[in-house]
Amino acid sequence: MEKITLIWLIISSLIASMSCGLNNQDPIEYHGLCVNMFLNHIEKLKKLENCTIVVGDLKISLLERTKPEDFKNLTFPKLKEVTGYMVVYRVAGLETLSNLLPNLARIRGNTLLYNYALIVYDVELLREIGLNSLLKIDRGGVIIWGGPLTCFVNTIDWNAIAPRSRHVLSKPDKHAQCNFPCTCTSNPATNRCWSNKKCQIFLEGPDSWNCSSECIGCRNTNPKSCTLCRHYTYKEECVSHCPENTILLSVSNHCITNDECVHLNRWEWNNTCVSECPKNFVQWNEAGNTTCVPCDNCHQTCGNMSIQTLDTIQLAEKCVYINGSLSIHIWSIPYAANELRYFMKNIVEVTDYIEIYGSITLTSLDFLSSLQRIRGRRLFNGKYSLAIYDMHNLQSLFLPQIIKGLNVERGTVRFYRNPMLCMHQIKKLTQRFPVAPNELDIPQGMNGYSGSCNEMFLKLTIQVKNETFAIASFFTKLKGVHYTVLYVRIPHGTNASIVPETCSDSEWFAITVPDTFNDFVHVPLPSLRPASTYAVCVEKYDPSTRHLARSSIVKFETHVGKPEPPFILELVASSSNVIVIRWSDHMDYRPFITRYELDINLVDINYNIITRDHCTVNDDEMFDIDYTRHAKVMRPPKNYERGCESMCGILSSVTIGAMVEDYFDVCDTIGKCDDDSERSKNSSINGNIISLSLDISGQRNNFQVGGLAPFRDYKFRLRACTKDLCSRTAKDVVQTLHSENADIASITHKSIIDPGLIYVKWEPPSVTNGPLLAYTIEIYPNVKVSDMNHLVPQTWCVPGNETSLTVKSNKASKYLVRICSTTLAHPYACNDWIKIEGFVKYELVWWWSGVLFGLFLYVFSWVIGWRWKRRIDRSDSIPLFDITSSYRQESVPPATMLSDFVSLHNISLRDLRDLS
Ligand SMILES: *[C@@H]1O[C@H](CO)[C@@H](O)[C@H](O)[C@H]1NC(C)=O
Ligand SMILES: *[C@@H]1O[C@H](CO)[C@@H](O)[C@H](O)[C@H]1NC(C)=O
Ligand SMILES: *[C@@H]1O[C@H](CO)[C@@H](O)[C@H](O)[C@H]1NC(C)=O
Ligand SMILES: *[C@@H]1O[C@H](CO)[C@@H](O)[C@H](O)[C@H]1NC(C)=O
Ligand SMILES: *[C@@H]1O[C@H](CO)[C@@H](O)[C@H](O)[C@H]1NC(C)=O
Ligand SMILES: *[C@@H]1O[C@H](CO)[C@@H](O)[C@H](O)[C@H]1NC(C)=O
Ligand SMILES: *[C@@H]1O[C@H](CO)[C@@H](O)[C@H](O)[C@H]1NC(C)=O
Repeated sequence: MEKITLIWLIISSLIASMSCGLNNQDPIEYHGLCVNMFLNHIEKLKKLENCTIVVGDLKISLLERTKPEDFKNLTFPKLKEVTGYMVVYRVAGLETLSNLLPNLARIRGNTLLYNYALIVYDVELLREIGLNSLLKIDRGGVIIWGGPLTCFVNTIDWNAIAPRSRHVLSKPDKHAQCNFPCTCTSNPATNRCWSNKKCQIFLEGPDSWNCSSECIGCRNTNPKSCTLCRHYTYKEECVSHCPENTILLSVSNHCITNDECVHLNRWEWNNTCVSECPKNFVQWNEAGNTTCVPCDNCHQTCGNMSIQTLDTIQLAEKCVYINGSLSIHIWSIPYAANELRYFMKNIVEVTDYIEIYGSITLTSLDFLSSLQRIRGRRLFNGKYSLAIYDMHNLQSLFLPQIIKGLNVERGTVRFYRNPMLCMHQIKKLTQRFPVAPNELDIPQGMNGYSGSCNEMFLKLTIQVKNETFAIASFFTKLKGVHYTVLYVRIPHGTNASIVPETCSDSEWFAITVPDTFNDFVHVPLPSLRPASTYAVCVEKYDPSTRHLARSSIVKFETHVGKPEPPFILELVASSSNVIVIRWSDHMDYRPFITRYELDINLVDINYNIITRDHCTVNDDEMFDIDYTRHAKVMRPPKNYERGCESMCGILSSVTIGAMVEDYFDVCDTIGKCDDDSERSKNSSINGNIISLSLDISGQRNNFQVGGLAPFRDYKFRLRACTKDLCSRTAKDVVQTLHSENADIASITHKSIIDPGLIYVKWEPPSVTNGPLLAYTIEIYPNVKVSDMNHLVPQTWCVPGNETSLTVKSNKASKYLVRICSTTLAHPYACNDWIKIEGFVKYELVWWWSGVLFGLFLYVFSWVIGWRWKRRIDRSDSIPLFDITSSYRQESVPPATMLSDFVSLHNISLRDLRDLS
């Protein structure tokens, strides 16, 4: 399930990143250096011909009409390295990458796609990956969700290529016929292959011990011939530092010339080839050469600014003083107001004038949030220090505190064709200018003429019927006048007062009222959201006078009703008996939630596991520890407060950095999940909770539950309740961590009841990690402790409900015995060896026969011992079942990397520009 969620996510980011790549220009190539290759056409693919490094990302995707023959002769043996990530997505007809990229050895992952550096996804005919030379992925994980026919996915040791990161690998389809074993070496650890012809090559291992210190891995035949460079690469050689006359391309640690740097659209600075100046340096262009120069406040003064696109907005970021004029004309760029607010927040002073026009997305000039002075050194049209015109949606000017503090030294204002801007807004500002505007500067009727400025007086009443339904009523007086009811939902936490100017049919719901006059009209407002605040106004249009007017605004709240369920953000085991739960509320209902109901229930162990005979069945795979069982960390859907964005799962030392999965509602797809079963009674066993029902009051969003049984699944069910009603149930299951000290049984009685016949009785462990599945009794007859390492004990296995056993061992005078338990967490947890001695108990009369028998026993046991040893010697060649190998260290944290919990896939502003 988690994999599916993840794959879904990847696809959506893929599609997003591919579609913004569509606007990319042709790939650049110079001396083997290629920049950001986005190849979505077979002809474009050929641009890889001369590339040795891709500086940036390599995306081969959306080649939907290619056929296997198209790739027959296509090969790019020069390409060795990609500095960003590599994606192969939907390439029809591609059967293997072995021919296409035979020498690709390294993917650095300087940039990642959703934490992954290598993604092969949805390539229908792919039969193998075939990146036969791939040795190292420096950063980021791997997703191979190849296609139904892809084999040799799991025959590759991805951990050797991309250690410490996550790998999402598909299993082959039934039809794929992937039963080719690797036949590379006899060592199972390195018997890995890319196909039945190509073995995986490893960087580490005995082969690399003799390599030159500049190499990570080298040819067996020549220790100086590196497969990858440890430090820097210069002309395909590995070097310890860049030679004279070269500079460092730090994204790939290659030494390149200045000329090459310039062709990558970068420039030299401090002997490196950069694309951005560091902090306190500013990019400086001089006679065609670019460099970075230090700047103390040098970024603060900017020249004339003419802002028309998002990238010019960005240029204003560091401007505090504008030595010149500021002109803003951004047409209809969506979200431009946010961009302006962010990048223009530092502007304090403009020496000449400000001109703002033709920008229909702007409703306010609040983005100039630091403006203090307009000097008017040079004036617009020789007269104006502020000109605002053709602003179709502008409703308000600067923030009140800005207007209050504004200092204008020369000039006056010009305002025209601003239909939404009411005169009273303009009047507040004109007082700040040294010269008062005249009739020509602000022509009458040329501002605020859309009608929004004329308030009409109308008694508007609202009856709230239920959660989703209300009725607006008012009295219509005039004949031939059209009325429209406008309403909008106000998000919770919005304090800004709603002014009638904002009431407009572009953003508000509009309901046209049938023509009536001298009557009360009742207008139903359907499909409202529960627990929400709405604003309503009435618009009146008189066709005879062409006069538009609006009523003042009335607010109302819909009923709350049954709240939406809370969302479980984190469900994390922090120890063997404590689980921490964190959740967030649906934002609409949050102010109304008064308490929560939390039910915790022990989940029954799968019947098959308990009833299986664990003495004969080899259930190795059952003990594979799945860390995702101990930590569920989910990113909520929209309408919920964001929970953990980074550093998730930090409540537990084991689950730090647990993978954050996005919300995926199975109920949405299968449509049947209401599980509002009865709350259970509290109960426990041996002090461990079986079921527990809690009422949590107040505004808290986390809770810790202790007293749980180790290594057991618990189901958490959570409901949020208002005063009257509770939500549906949110639920999830998590497993407590295993207890290190549990599972050890103790032997309470042992004796030799006959020669070779041993009776052992034991006490079950007081704490177990899940049910006790089986006991194994191990016995060494007549063995010194020092010899134990070389010998294999005799073993007997019994089901976990037994507490004693009589076994027949070799006859001996002394035995070492111990008992080992098998539980879900410990395949084999043993107590210390215990000695059993002396069954010989003879009457004195029989002393001589005792001596004789002792002698016999000595000889006998010597013979047995010898034969026993022989047997061991003989079986040395047969691999033994190594008990220790089945121990698994749970305290090793799951394979995560920092990038797994830093913020996700940011589209930088530069990309935004490409989108627009
Ligand atoms: C690769 O280099 C060769 C020789 O310089 C040149 O003829 C060819 O056009 C180049 N290919 C591409 C795709 O630039
Ligand atoms: C591939 O190369 C061979 C010989 O070099 C040629 O005969 C064949 O037409 C080429 N195929 C394609 C699809 O270019
Ligand atoms: C490494 O070098 C040593 C001495 O030069 C040699 O004996 C050994 O066989 C070499 N090892 C490998 C794996 O080549
Ligand atoms: C220039 O590079 C050197 C060596 O990489 C570094 O130590 C130094 O701090 C850099 N200079 C500046 C101003 O960043
Ligand atoms: C620009 O760079 C070239 C080559 O590095 C150099 O010869 C030239 O003098 C530089 N021009 C200026 C104005 O610095
Ligand atoms: C609210 O009332 C309307 C009209 O009476 C009705 O159609 C709707 O089903 C009601 N909604 C709820 C949630 O009761
Ligand atoms: C243990 O369980 C098995 C199967 O459930 C049963 O046949 C056997 O009698 C039980 N032994 C004891 C000692 O309870």
